[in-house]
Amino acid sequence: MISLTGLRKVYPGRGGQQVVALDGIDLDVPRGGVHGIVGESGAGKSTLIRCLTALEQPTSGTVAIDGVALSGLGERELRRQRRRIGMVFQHVNLLDGRTAAQNVAYPLRVAGASRGERAERVRELLDLVGLAGRGDAYPSQLSGGQKQRVGIARALAAEPAVLLCDEPTSALDSDTTRQILGLIRDVRDRLGLTVLIITHEMGVVREVCDSVTLLDRGRVAQSGSIAEVAGDHGSRLARALVSLPPEPAAAGRVTLEVSFAGEVPTGRVLAAVAAVEDVDVSSGTIETLAGRRVGRLRVVVPSATAADAAARLRAVGVHVEEVA
Ligand SMILES: Nc1ncnc2c1ncn2[C@@H]1O[C@H](COP(=O)(O)OP(=O)(O)OP(=O)(O)O)[C@@H](O)[C@H]1O
Ligand SMILES: [Mg+2]
Repeated sequence: MISLTGLRKVYPGRGGQQVVALDGIDLDVPRGGVHGIVGESGAGKSTLIRCLTALEQPTSGTVAIDGVALSGLGERELRRQRRRIGMVFQHVNLLDGRTAAQNVAYPLRVAGASRGERAERVRELLDLVGLAGRGDAYPSQLSGGQKQRVGIARALAAEPAVLLCDEPTSALDSDTTRQILGLIRDVRDRLGLTVLIITHEMGVVREVCDSVTLLDRGRVAQSGSIAEVAGDHGSRLARALVSLPPEPAAAGRVTLEVSFAGEVPTGRVLAAVAAVEDVDVSSGTIETLAGRRVGRLRVVVPSATAADAAARLRAVGVHVEEVA
């Protein structure tokens, strides 16, 4: 499991001004969990990953993997602990002059595995990622998704306990993205890995994550299981997970966003909406996320009666917010 406690990273900035990249992060990802990290550019996502791989020394706080704190380890121990972490990147960076099998074998060679051990393990790994029989192909002969599969096999070669994925699907089309996310879940299921995925796509979080953290300027703005954050009406993650297209209301009218979860029967919500005078529904979705039904509707009402409409809707137990 991954455990961050009070993690803080301050970079010395230009002209003596310090940059607080991480400002006291507490985060626990249980063994076997797939956890997403989202946040705007500069929020601290990459810094967090670099602290996890010990490429970066935290200013204070601790990073522990399976209960072993990274700080205070000697050089040898640190190398061993690093091998317990596999990394998958947006750009796979395979060695072009080597075959898929040789790329996967590379970390095994570094770790000192014998030729026989390597051959067998590489075959297993290529099999695991759905590339059985493609070991002799060179990167130039593989599609983007296949290259990412090789990258995942390579990351798994040293039998890591943790897989860190930094934007693993950002360079892929949507079908391939789905396949690669399916593969990540599959290897998690089979190998019991703990997975951390950095992404800017909420679709990735919905598809593969059990839980998610929103970073904002180096702090945890929101964190929880998908069911928890989706049900936290009006929260930033709930909105991002189930988003609706913005559509400005006409003059004299305002848009109310109605959010609800499975506790309120859908029929009751729709009946309450229908009972609002001169109402229009501009968009909406009702879906099941992590086994929990969540819904969101944008209803357009006359400005003059908006407050009254919002109060009537709230009375059935939904969350109502005026949106621009
Ligand atoms: N080596 C460094 N020296 C100084 N400041 C840094 C360094 N690395 C990152 N920062 C600063 O720390 C903050 C967090 O950066 P980080 O790269 O972790 O963000 P990020 O969430 O990964 O962003 P992006 O989505 O753009 O990749 C930013 O303000 C950045 O400018
Ligand atoms: Mg980054």
